[in-house]
Amino acid sequence: MTEIVSNCASIVDWKNFVECLESKNPGIVKSGHPKRWVGITDDDPNFQVTPDMEKFVNDTATELDAAEYDYSGVLWKIYRVDEHFNKDVVDLLCKFFNIKLRMANAYCVMPGCNVPFHVDPQDGSDENIVRYTWQINNPSCSQALLVGNEALTNMQLGDVYQWDNHNMWHAACNAGFEPAYYFLLEGVKL
Ligand SMILES: [Fe+2]
Repeated sequence: MTEIVSNCASIVDWKNFVECLESKNPGIVKSGHPKRWVGITDDDPNFQVTPDMEKFVNDTATELDAAEYDYSGVLWKIYRVDEHFNKDVVDLLCKFFNIKLRMANAYCVMPGCNVPFHVDPQDGSDENIVRYTWQINNPSCSQALLVGNEALTNMQLGDVYQWDNHNMWHAACNAGFEPAYYFLLEGVKL
């Protein structure tokens, strides 16, 4: 069960954070078939290629291709620490959650776009890995983040959801009128 474990609305000025992201539009754009999401490209020079990358791509693509997934609406933006926002924010959050950082990204799903069901390509056998996610702009109708078999929607700004584990299948869709911005933080519990 993905549960609300905290609220971090007062830890960071998220309104200003999102405004800064928007000024760096379009961030790193991911779109189309899963094989286009991974690897180092001109607009994503710091993508971390992990040993299980090929398996991740194949597993995700196999499922989606078998479903005859329509990739035309697949599009989201990634914003990375040190590339698009300051690490000070992440340091604050890691202190708040008492974790050692593994990954911190912000995401945007624009109206009409979706992120297909997938598992993130990463290694990790550490049992103390925790993953948190929350919305960083005011929620709007018809926005949903899907984790496992749960739909997180109408999330209050800064309400922190802890995943059951970091390898869960997840997706997002925005059928509403406003962009949806999310933050994802993963680390090892100290
Ligand atoms: Fe993901």
